[in-house]
Amino acid sequence: MSVTIVVGSQWGDEGKGKIVDYLSQGADFVVRFHGGPNAGHTVINNYGTFRMHLVPSGIFNPKTKGVLANGEVIDPQVLLEEIEMLGKAGINLAGKLFISPRCHIIMPYHKVLDKLFDEAKGGRKTATTGRGIGPVHADKVSYYGIRIADLYNPAILSDKLKISVNIKNKILKAFGAEVFSYEEIRKTLNAFARKISPYVKETYGILNTAVENNKNILFEGAHGLFLDNDWGTYPYVTASSTVTGQILAGSGVSPKKITKAVGVAKAYITRVDTGECPVPTEIQGKLGEFIREKGHEYGATTGRPRRIAWFDTNLVKFSGRINDLTELAMTRLDTLGGVPKVKICTGYLYRGKKVDYLSGDAEFLRKVKPIYEEFEGWTEDISSCKKYELLPKNVRKYIERVEKLVGVPVKYVSVGAERDKLIVRS
Ligand code: IMP
Repeated sequence: MSVTIVVGSQWGDEGKGKIVDYLSQGADFVVRFHGGPNAGHTVINNYGTFRMHLVPSGIFNPKTKGVLANGEVIDPQVLLEEIEMLGKAGINLAGKLFISPRCHIIMPYHKVLDKLFDEAKGGRKTATTGRGIGPVHADKVSYYGIRIADLYNPAILSDKLKISVNIKNKILKAFGAEVFSYEEIRKTLNAFARKISPYVKETYGILNTAVENNKNILFEGAHGLFLDNDWGTYPYVTASSTVTGQILAGSGVSPKKITKAVGVAKAYITRVDTGECPVPTEIQGKLGEFIREKGHEYGATTGRPRRIAWFDTNLVKFSGRINDLTELAMTRLDTLGGVPKVKICTGYLYRGKKVDYLSGDAEFLRKVKPIYEEFEGWTEDISSCKKYELLPKNVRKYIERVEKLVGVPVKYVSVGAERDKLIVRS
């Protein structure tokens, strides 16, 4: 039996989709347990190239079942498009996909309000993905969210939807925005309910029975630790919890069952361009542009350019601790090729004193000065390298310094986008 979890150890976009795709080859179940369509996992495999937002990336393996557990929030349109895309790729989802009736549903008004609220913050905006994530979670914790289970109870759905549309329309009117019609949304939800009904099942039982039966389960984390609502760079974060412990609230499986916790980290950092979020090790100018273009660093969900920064051990070390990581997966080492000198941030200085990530809040991070170690870069094309020992000396030096500083072994080294471009260290 193994319960493996893969989580992001930076600000998302670390390349989790690829690591999940690899690790799920032996999995009986792959599970999404938080986040929603704000996540965008790119998977390249024998079936083609896919951008997955809601369905776990590991679904492509013939024997693997996919679970959308209760912690995930669902946009009906995105889910239906994904189901259709998978059908066209020849993946038969009957008996292979399970959706928790406890999942909250993202309504069209959530998406409009998401944008209106963020714009209203002016220079302090979070620059959300606009997928309705904050507003749907706000409804969830305010006790008037609408869940998948409600779709199959017409009287409850009518009441809840009427109340919600009524409240939201008042807010929309105050913003001078267009209001929503209860009937239109109801029609869309009815059609959605019919289409997904074969997949709706209480997933808590399925997963815990699988644990009891010694099955292999892979929890697919989305986003990254520094987007976590409590532990991230608040308020430049997402609405859900992105830590390993979230599997309990988001799926009903105890984190005590985790046998392997893999933290994914890029060899450099990227942060979707929120503009406002402090990124202490950001690389300005031509070098940042070079890495952005070489690595096609544009958001999978929004297409926005990503800010580029040096690897920051402060952050990944914190991830090791809070996520109780057993292994690291380091991605994008191929992209760093051609950079003459590469740097690793080993700590921060604030008013002449060494401080760490948790010494303050996001505002504090704006004031720190990173301390760097500098390394010779590499120019060799490493994308076809299959063995760790065959990697150029400078690449190995870089990896080994990172694992020493972070205190977690780098087990997986990704040297390209495709599934086989992964070195697994023994
Ligand atoms: P939201 O999750 O759409 O509310 O966006 C909140 C913040 O999290 C924004 O700064 C987004 O750019 C960021 N964010 C959310 N999901 C991801 C992700 O999967 N990768 C990178 N950034 C993300």
